[in-house]
Amino acid sequence: MKVGIDKISFYTPQQYLDLTDLAAARNVDPNKYLIGIGQQQMSVAALDQDIVAMAANAAEAILTLEDRQNLGLVIVATESGVDQSKAAALFVQDLLQINPNIRALEIKEACYGATAALQLAHDFVQLHPQQKALVIASDIARYGLNTAGEVTQGAGAVAMLVSEQPHILALESLAFYQSKNAGDFWRPNYSQQALARGKYSEELYLQMFTQIYQRAQQKVAIDQLAALLFHIPFSKMGRKALKTLQDQIPEADYKRLLARFEQSILYGQKVGNIYTGSLYLSLISLLEHDNSLQAHDRIALFSYGSGAVGELFFGQLQPNYQAYLRPQAHQELLQQRRRLTVDEYENIFQRQLVTDGSCQEIVPPTTTTKHYLKKVDQHERFYQ
Ligand code: CAA
Repeated sequence: MKVGIDKISFYTPQQYLDLTDLAAARNVDPNKYLIGIGQQQMSVAALDQDIVAMAANAAEAILTLEDRQNLGLVIVATESGVDQSKAAALFVQDLLQINPNIRALEIKEACYGATAALQLAHDFVQLHPQQKALVIASDIARYGLNTAGEVTQGAGAVAMLVSEQPHILALESLAFYQSKNAGDFWRPNYSQQALARGKYSEELYLQMFTQIYQRAQQKVAIDQLAALLFHIPFSKMGRKALKTLQDQIPEADYKRLLARFEQSILYGQKVGNIYTGSLYLSLISLLEHDNSLQAHDRIALFSYGSGAVGELFFGQLQPNYQAYLRPQAHQELLQQRRRLTVDEYENIFQRQLVTDGSCQEIVPPTTTTKHYLKKVDQHERFYQ
């Protein structure tokens, strides 16, 4: 039985910072950001778009009434959770009017979380083929003003409906993974910002990719892969990982993988790092920009979550997969975002929800965004 991604979509907040504006404000050569980091813009989440609201907005776009009735599992993967106890998936269930007979939970392991969720969803549907599973990756990447990581921030969510006989990508059981207790990137419970040993995190990412790829190549020949996708905290990171293969694999294979890599980073270069959704944003970007892929093409996906877990897994494109994508809606979502000034971005960045139990009404978004955080009161969040 085939099980995999039946539908996929992303949501990102409706305002962004252009990285040339950030470069000017930080007195940095813009080419450092555009070429050295490989990013162009980053979406900025105001208080109304926390990870619950973004998750609901991403999933709303793909779920029919029938899907909502047939779901048996809903997982939100995030490292920007809004509660230490209650799962974001429960708010999402309510906002999307999903049937009550589901398992709903939240998963965390940095940027690897959504991959763990996808594997769980795959196994769940294998066991219960008459039911579907919803996996949502939702995150806000925050490193702080004037930090080295500032240019690699972003915000957004990716929603994936997992079913039997999927229309987009059938997932294989074959996977190669590795875990290691490492201090490359973390965020203590009391901190709004992530802490990173930036250069070490890049080294560890590359080290894990190399070690995992070495194991995988004994079972999967590179010429069988139509594309190799990466977790993209910033596009240069994926480019560096792909480059490690340049002298190891035939030139024709490298050229094919590089050409498809270029298509896979187009959305991420505008959205920024969305942590655990970034790999899946790369998948959407590839499928919605590349018109040379064909049914039955095999795609490899490299997932990396700091701390650290890495996994390489595979999927096969399904006939007529293009009909189940949303390229026009995604391009409009990006085009209609408002460009912020650096001052506006800094103000938004510094705004925080009250933590003293008082009532705070959140200014609703001026856009047509369907779901948003409406208020906090007595330490509880209320959504529209
Ligand atoms: N023109 C072109 N390129 C330029 C340039 C210019 N004028 N000026 C500098 N550059 C290049 C540099 O040569 C460098 O290129 P290489 O990486 O190829 O050597 C690049 O721009 C970055 O410049 P720096 O070496 O000065 O690095 P930095 O101090 O700006 O820090 C960073 C970069 C470490 C990525 C930092 O942004 C950071 O800490 N980011 C957060 C951590 C992170 O994303 N790590 C990724 C792996 S961990 C992960 O993947 C999980 C996750 O999502 C967090």
